[in-house]
Amino acid sequence: MSTIREVPKRTFFERIGAHTHIKGLGLDENLRAVKVKDGMVGQEKAREAAGLVVQMIKEGKLSGKTVILAGPPGTGKTAIAVAISKELGPNVPFIQMSGSEIYSSERKKTEILIEAMRKCIGVEIHEMRKVYEGEVTNITINTAPHPYNPYQKVPESVRLTLKTTDEEKTIEAGSTIAQQIIQEGITEGSVIQIDAETGRVVNLGLSLESTKGKIYEVDTRKKVPRPTGPVLKDKEFVYTLTLADMDEINARSRMGGGLFSLLFGGSETKEIDTEIRAAVDQQVKKLVDEGKAFIHPGVLFIDDSHLLDLEAFSFLGRAMESELVPIIILATNRGVTTIRGTDVKSPLGFPLDLIDRSVIIATQEYDAESIREILRIRADQEKVNIKDDALEKLTEIGVKSSLRYAVQLLSLAAQNAKVAKRETVTIEDVERVGSLFMDVNEAAEHLRKYEEKLMYH
Ligand SMILES: Nc1ncnc2c1ncn2[C@@H]1O[C@H](COP(=O)(O)OP(=O)(O)O)[C@@H](O)[C@H]1O
Ligand SMILES: [Mg+2]
Repeated sequence: MSTIREVPKRTFFERIGAHTHIKGLGLDENLRAVKVKDGMVGQEKAREAAGLVVQMIKEGKLSGKTVILAGPPGTGKTAIAVAISKELGPNVPFIQMSGSEIYSSERKKTEILIEAMRKCIGVEIHEMRKVYEGEVTNITINTAPHPYNPYQKVPESVRLTLKTTDEEKTIEAGSTIAQQIIQEGITEGSVIQIDAETGRVVNLGLSLESTKGKIYEVDTRKKVPRPTGPVLKDKEFVYTLTLADMDEINARSRMGGGLFSLLFGGSETKEIDTEIRAAVDQQVKKLVDEGKAFIHPGVLFIDDSHLLDLEAFSFLGRAMESELVPIIILATNRGVTTIRGTDVKSPLGFPLDLIDRSVIIATQEYDAESIREILRIRADQEKVNIKDDALEKLTEIGVKSSLRYAVQLLSLAAQNAKVAKRETVTIEDVERVGSLFMDVNEAAEHLRKYEEKLMYH
């Protein structure tokens, strides 16, 4: 089994700076929470519950279900979701969005949700192809006059010698391959692959064994070993795409070209409509039935999901009943509140039928000891030296106000120390930033005082 080119993972905006210290759920082999592990502190019950969820996701037993993380602000809901994604590993798609992201003036809410959901479903495709593969030891390109312009020469055919550790073979090919050889900058010493059916040429890099590979110490080209086995062989290609990737490929292929060829090129993207999605679903199901593809349902994490409205909830509810769905994790810090878009009050601000088919993980307020430990870990993560009494002061603030506020003050205090050209954060730094910035309660109190003078819309 080999992969010639992995489709690059799309990079998403990094929104978890505050959670860089979280490396996992911090559980032992029996899925019990270790008080301090993997950057996680306390909140044992929620972590153990999340551990079970991870197991079920891995065994594919949770798709189409919802997990709700409910708890006051700053109690680690996002941290636990991040930990779940770490536990699932890099091969399980994990998409993080905020409930507020569905409100866009350009796109429909359901469109945004569908796309997010399709980005969370990985499809591992296996394909056997006949390919010529080897290190190029000889190239002769024959040119002929251009049919319309006799003064210009165009490649007409190519004669290539390919070498593997076991064999050497010379092949002749026509103009399309000759052109690709030139375009791809293939020279003697390159390791290449030619698809026997489509004629697509892939330049894999420079052979380590070639004279060129040995001469140039600095070369931007990737160095690869000389291939083994026969030159012409059956090779299994494995690539993992998400349903969203496949939608895009399909949208493009409507303008010509097949799935395989489009993995290696093409640029324009057409808008993706329901018809394309239905076709992709059909195609994927067929591949799965034939044993050529495997589905990896990932996780869609919607933070602050009390910001979703009834339309979004009912869409999610319906989507969850279809076959190709990710696991959905919703986080909320609301108690009983109205569901957006209605005047109906409901626990967590979610419709009851959604709550009905969910498992709920609750997060609790932290005690001083856990707050101190989390702050210590954050200080470590941000490479901040902090005096004991300063840490104590921050812990106190964390208990009185919130953990998140204390975490923020820690960075500010470190900045304050840096400005004063000191290596260590002292209690004075903490007190100074504490007096310069406000927490929520102080801000509310402050605004109340000036209520009459403030403007209202
Ligand atoms: N149990 C925990 N262990 C370690 N760090 C935590 C824990 N809970 C929260 N944090 C950290 O505290 C901060 C606030 O938590 P966060 O996950 O944002 O809370 P919420 O999403 O519930 O509002 C973040 O920096 C988070 O990484
Ligand atoms: Mg959060």
